[in-house]
Amino acid sequence: MGFNVWQEKGIPLEKQIRNWETLDVQPYSKLDVDPYTRTRGILMNGIEVEAALFLHQFARHVEDMDLKRNLAMVRRVEQQQQKMVNWMIPASESTLEVTIGYEQVAVDLTAYLARTEPDPYVKAALDFALLEDFDHLYRYANLLEMDDGIKAERIVGDYTEIMPGRPTMDEHRHPFDSVRKHVDCKTADPLTNMHILTITAAEQQTMNYYMNVGNRYPSMLGRGLYLEIAQIEEQHVSHYESLADPNCTWLEMMAMHDYNEAYMYWSCMQSEPDPRVKQIWQTHLEMELAHLHYDRELVKQMENKDIAEMLPGEFPQPTIMQSNKDYVRQVMAEQTSLTANGTEFVPVDSLPKDHRFYSYQKMVNGNGFVPSRDVIKEHIEKRGQDYRVETEGPHPVEKLRARHEVPAEAMPY
Ligand SMILES: [Fe+2]
Ligand SMILES: [Fe+2]
Ligand SMILES: [Fe+2]
Ligand SMILES: [Fe+2]
Repeated sequence: MGFNVWQEKGIPLEKQIRNWETLDVQPYSKLDVDPYTRTRGILMNGIEVEAALFLHQFARHVEDMDLKRNLAMVRRVEQQQQKMVNWMIPASESTLEVTIGYEQVAVDLTAYLARTEPDPYVKAALDFALLEDFDHLYRYANLLEMDDGIKAERIVGDYTEIMPGRPTMDEHRHPFDSVRKHVDCKTADPLTNMHILTITAAEQQTMNYYMNVGNRYPSMLGRGLYLEIAQIEEQHVSHYESLADPNCTWLEMMAMHDYNEAYMYWSCMQSEPDPRVKQIWQTHLEMELAHLHYDRELVKQMENKDIAEMLPGEFPQPTIMQSNKDYVRQVMAEQTSLTANGTEFVPVDSLPKDHRFYSYQKMVNGNGFVPSRDVIKEHIEKRGQDYRVETEGPHPVEKLRARHEVPAEAMPY
C-alpha cells in the first residue's frame, strides 16, 4: 500500500494558517538533540526559504491578479512553515555552532544524494562540491576549538569525520567555471529533479546564512573565514542551480518545488527519532500535499497540462540523513585534485598555465591573507596541531596528513 500523492488531499489550504503560539515552538536542547535532527531542521529551513523566495520571484513576473493572490496565499504558508522549522534552533547554540551543523548538512546530504543519483553528470557535480563543503567543516571546526574551546565532534556526533577536503583556498575559481550543463526535467529521473532542487535550496540557505551572520564574528580572522567560505557557497549555488532545467515554465517549477517539499518532509519522517519533531514533518507534509493539488489545478487551467505526467504518484526512494564516512573517504582519495574547466571536472594539473583559474587564484589569494589557511596556521601555533576527527584511519590523501604544518602554496597534492 504505497503512499500516493495524487490520492492524498492533505490539509485544505484555507486551514493552513496557524497562530503565533503554535509557530513559536520550544527549541530543542542543544545537548540532547540528535545531530541529524538538527541537520534535518537546517535542511528543511533551507527548502522553505527557497519556497518563499521562489514564489516572490515568480510573483514579480506575473501580471494576472488572481494568480498573484494565489501565490501570496501559498507563500504566506511557506513562510509560516519556515518560521516553525527554523525556530527549533535554541539561542544557546552560537552562530559558529550552528555553522558546524550547516556544513554537516552539506557533507551528509550531498554524499547521500551522490550515492543515490541516477544521472552520472549530476552525481559528478555532487561529488565535486562534496569535498569542498567537507573542507569547510574542518576550517570552521578549527576556529571553534581555537576560539571557544569547543570540539565540533560534540555537535556532529559520531556520524561525520572532520579533516581537510579539497582545501578551501584551492576552491576559488573564475565564475565562468561554476556553470554546469542542465538536465531536461521532462526526461530526467524524478529523483534527479528532486536532488537538484534539494541541494540548490540547501546551498542557497548556507550562502544566505553566511551573507548575514559572517560579520557577527568577533575576530578579523573569523570574519575573513566566513566571507571567504560564503564566496564558495555562491559558487556552489551557481553550480547546482545551473543543473536545473531552465525550460520549465514558472508554474511547472512551482509544482516541482511543492512536490519536492512534500517528498522531503516525507523523507524526514522516515528517520526522525524525536516524536515532537516528527509531528512537525507530518503536518508540513500534509500541507505540501494540498499545495501540490493546488498547483496541479493551476497548471491545468493556465497551461492545459497535467503535472502528474512528470511527477509520479509514488515518491522516489527517501532522502535520508545518515553517516557516509566510507563514501566521503573514497571520493576524497579519487577526486581531491579536481578543479573545473568550463562545465567539466578535470585534474588541476591538466590546466594550461595561463588558465583563468590561476589568474583568479592570484586575485583573491595573492596578497598573503587567506583566512581558510590562516585559521589552521593559527590553531597549530596555539595548540601544536590542527583539530580533526579521523575515526576511520589516516587521511586518504597522503599530502593532507600533516597536522603540524600548513602547506604554504596552493595545491599541495
Ligand atoms: Fe513549504
Ligand atoms: Fe560549505
Ligand atoms: Fe556548499
Ligand atoms: Fe509548499
